[in-house]
Amino acid sequence: QKAPIRVAVTGAAGQIAYSLLFRIASGDMLGADQPVILQLLDLPQAQQAVRGVIMELHDCAFPLLADVFATDNPETAFQDAQIAILVGARPRSKGMERADLLHANANIFTAQGAALNKVASRDVKVLVVGNPANTNAYIAMKSAPDLPARNFTAMLRLDHNRALNQIALKTGRSLNDIEQLCVWGNHSPTMYADYRFATINGQSVPQLINDAQWYAEHFLPTVAKRGVAIIEARGLSSAASAANAAIEHVRDWVLGSKGRWVTMGVPSDGAYGILEGLVFGLPVVCENGEYRVIKDLPIDDFSRERIGITLKELEDERAAVAHLL
Ligand code: NAI
Repeated sequence: QKAPIRVAVTGAAGQIAYSLLFRIASGDMLGADQPVILQLLDLPQAQQAVRGVIMELHDCAFPLLADVFATDNPETAFQDAQIAILVGARPRSKGMERADLLHANANIFTAQGAALNKVASRDVKVLVVGNPANTNAYIAMKSAPDLPARNFTAMLRLDHNRALNQIALKTGRSLNDIEQLCVWGNHSPTMYADYRFATINGQSVPQLINDAQWYAEHFLPTVAKRGVAIIEARGLSSAASAANAAIEHVRDWVLGSKGRWVTMGVPSDGAYGILEGLVFGLPVVCENGEYRVIKDLPIDDFSRERIGITLKELEDERAAVAHLL
């Protein structure tokens, strides 16, 4: 049997974790032959709730769950972690300004980045889910100077999957056959979902759809505002679909995306004019435990404008927290 992989998950008492942990433990993320140890982090006041989640994990009798523990200390949670999924974050409370939200989260992610730097496995793969996800990932990365910057990523997979679903609905084709889709930029309503390069069984998606009005007036706003639509309908933010996206992000990163483009928020190397180091949604292919950004895609005027908008937002977020790093 394989040695267990240590997976740290923060925000373990929250609603995303309530979907995520059970799927990690059942083998959906790292494979049906890969045992895992779950190292759960949440705040002191959430420890009782986490204990309940652990009871349920035990009661599932998952053969792959080698061990699970909870703590409120990041250095305990991240000790030797090979995967770290950072879900816990400070939500926006009533009357809270955007700058306050950025600051509150910057404090969390500087501390967690420093803890990862100190105790995690030197090749830990980090996925930040908690919002503002891109900037939180950037802060954690900057706070962990001894770890490779490229190991810090943010989740745009939910936006990617939302775009896939819209294209499948519009074309009546199977979602599985859609290739070469990407979502550029920030996980926020400024994201730019882009199907210019997408194909279905080799046919061009822009040609198949051929409806500029649908693209501008339905597709882009539906993908961008889906999170709000789910809150309005459910009274709670998306959780199962967010957990699913986290599973797919890590699964593809570790096990490969089999030639398929997927979207990951990754530190920019300057490609496409994106400021180096900013964590930006980009098309990638994953192989042998690494991701590779798809380079040299043609950027037309519309795309340049859209990428510019989401880039500007991320540059502003970075400027708002720069003094804390
Ligand atoms: P939730 O409020 O149900 O759970 C959050 C949990 O994090 C709580 O148990 C809380 O105690 C914990 N927490 C807060 N600060 C912490 C800290 N410093 N260390 C450890 N744990 C901490 O929230 P939910 O629904 O699970 O969402 C979590 C985050 O994911 C939110 O920031 C949300 O905006 C974000 N999100 C991101 C998506 C993406 O696509 N990137 C999609 C959906 C949600």
